[in-house]
Amino acid sequence: MAKKLKATAKSPANIAFIKYWGKKNEKLRIPSNNSLSMCIDKANTITTVEFKKNQKKDYIKIDGKTAQGRERKRVVKHLQRIRKKANLSLKAKVISKNSFPKATGLASSASGMAALTLAASTAVGLNLSEKDLSKLARLASGSACRSIPGGFVEWQKGTNQENSFAVQLYPSEYWKIADVAVIVSKKMKKTSSTSGHRLAKTSPFYKIRLKNLPKNITAIKKAIKNKNFSLFGNILEKEALNFHAICLTSNPPLLYWSPTSLLIMKKIQNWRREGKTESYFTLDAGTTIHAITRQKDEQKLAERLKNIKDVKKVVINHPSNGARIIKNHLF
Ligand code: PMV
Repeated sequence: MAKKLKATAKSPANIAFIKYWGKKNEKLRIPSNNSLSMCIDKANTITTVEFKKNQKKDYIKIDGKTAQGRERKRVVKHLQRIRKKANLSLKAKVISKNSFPKATGLASSASGMAALTLAASTAVGLNLSEKDLSKLARLASGSACRSIPGGFVEWQKGTNQENSFAVQLYPSEYWKIADVAVIVSKKMKKTSSTSGHRLAKTSPFYKIRLKNLPKNITAIKKAIKNKNFSLFGNILEKEALNFHAICLTSNPPLLYWSPTSLLIMKKIQNWRREGKTESYFTLDAGTTIHAITRQKDEQKLAERLKNIKDVKKVVINHPSNGARIIKNHLF
């Protein structure tokens, strides 16, 4: 019997401690700066890919709905890259499931594209190294390259296709911190991060951000190395606000927060000031707040957050492994 060109991968999302914002090369998704993140265990994507004979076009279903428009195009383009590498012309069936609502700041493009990269490249028989998977995932979605290695990860910006990829700094068990994700809206964000990256350079403060980032990256890496949570948190929160300052001052401006996001940011700072729970916030290009805390404080913090009006869902995430192949197919 012919070998089945089928594989299933599970990939975590990741939360950026130092944000990737702005690209040097748009086509290759070479970023303007290094970024740092942690893979998270409760926000993930499972994707099964099968390349089939007698199929006229790629069939793609995400969370029970047939993918259309831009979403479909992006997946087909990535399948095309992988077919080309494997010298294969068969069309694919792709079924994908997210554990969280898409495009709410829980990085669905990162976990989605990392899972697609691993499942599709495995199905066609390409036996890629972690580095090559990270490079390939990057072409589909920048932050996806950081969901290939697990744990605490740095994306080294590089200058070309060969030297821009993510590497693990520490495995997931290294540090017992938690990302308590607070979902305040289930609506899709209006501005995709792709157009946000493009707008970054219109901010008068963008050059200053890029100039200051290397020393912040060195400082946060040292804080992680020493497990100095307070220092780490202070750098993390400043960086999140610095990134949003670029968004707010772009032309046209991008305001990703909802009133509830802002309320939670204030509460997190007040709880710290009052000596209650020590946590620090960060937000990607969406309304979701990620409250980073020590695992020993996660339940207490989650309870406090759940009690805030308009909070839809609170999810406690721990550091996770990276993208991996799993046995149970979705079809
Ligand atoms: O990978 P993209 O194009 O979805 O960009 C991600 C951008 C941020 O989430 C805002 C920051 C980051 O580093 O994840």
